[in-house]
Amino acid sequence: MRWLVEWGDAMGARRLVPVTNTHALVTVPGNLVHGAVRKPLDATMDLLRSACEHRVCCHSTAHITFAHEEQYDQIEMPPEQVAAQQEVMQIARDAGFLMTYTCAPYLVGNVPLMGEICAWTESSAVVYANSILGARTTRHGTESAIAAALLGCVPEFGVLLDENRRATLQVNVTAELRTPTDWGALGYFTGKAAGLEVPVLVGTPRPSQEDAKQLCAALASGGGVTMCHVAGVTPEARTLEDALGGKPAARRLTFGQAELADAYRQLRNPAGEEIDTVILGCPHASLQEIAQIADGLRGRQLAEGVTLWVCTAYATRAAAQRLGYAATIAAAGGYLFCDTCPTNSMRVQAKRIVTAGFKQAHYARGMIGAEVIVDDLQGCLRAALTGRWSDG
Ligand code: F3S
Repeated sequence: MRWLVEWGDAMGARRLVPVTNTHALVTVPGNLVHGAVRKPLDATMDLLRSACEHRVCCHSTAHITFAHEEQYDQIEMPPEQVAAQQEVMQIARDAGFLMTYTCAPYLVGNVPLMGEICAWTESSAVVYANSILGARTTRHGTESAIAAALLGCVPEFGVLLDENRRATLQVNVTAELRTPTDWGALGYFTGKAAGLEVPVLVGTPRPSQEDAKQLCAALASGGGVTMCHVAGVTPEARTLEDALGGKPAARRLTFGQAELADAYRQLRNPAGEEIDTVILGCPHASLQEIAQIADGLRGRQLAEGVTLWVCTAYATRAAAQRLGYAATIAAAGGYLFCDTCPTNSMRVQAKRIVTAGFKQAHYARGMIGAEVIVDDLQGCLRAALTGRWSDG
């Protein structure tokens, strides 16, 4: 409670309000994979041990873990990490968290309703909850989301308040958005321009769930966006005027074909054509995306030396196994990997990565230190099957 009150004081909150839905990074006790020191690991373990003396008091789901228990042998992990991870997973389970292990909880049953106050970690999911579902959550960290889950309240500031949900940046979209990755390009452009502002997008077609997923992830990695209005789609923004709250936009930009091409150019920096890794499922793949990947790989083989990771939630993988998609991807030589993602959780030995997610491309460049190429799903599958990628 002290953390929530002090955080609220720092952010200018005037009161605590009830929260009914949390999504917390409870299972990653400190990322030794990426060289975290022992101290934060111990601190997080202590936090979770003391939290375990209580139980969550609302619908609470779990963000990704380092790797699913069945898959420890498929990736290189420090033994110390595995032990800590297993302890934390048990602690969180005992406290009542639903172990969904995903960065896209809205794909596996955590779908808050319009106006519901939430406390979510994972920036892409935060934007999705605010912008697509009309729920309300600020960006949470591990500690605040766990405290909210146990206590059932959050400090009221930021986008929990009507006045902070009003758009100030208007982006007129004239580019043709043909794929979810094009929506990612729009999000990357808009996120960079918006920083911490609330943008409104005008002139887009209605996004699919996959389009919206890419848009929201890129908004939160290109910039620090917490919510965005898509006029006619965001529940509280049936019109541009609704999104702007009846006031004029402080700034206006256009996202045309040139801006679309430029967004791709920013995350395409290959020094050669040979690729060794393809990463799909950032944010975690929907069943629809897995079906499309299986269709593209059916009866074919990945090029020699290429690793394909398709990342998803455990529940989605179970459905994909039942429907035969997982077997098709495995027969082609790919991995349908659940509960984690390569960038955050694994030692990926990659030199040149092709990915359909602007967020994955943005972070992989720094965190894995590889060359990255962002392309749509079909471009990624072509690269996986040929071992090469070239622009056009
Ligand atoms: Fe999820 Fe990893 Fe992307 S946590 S949003 S797949 S960087």
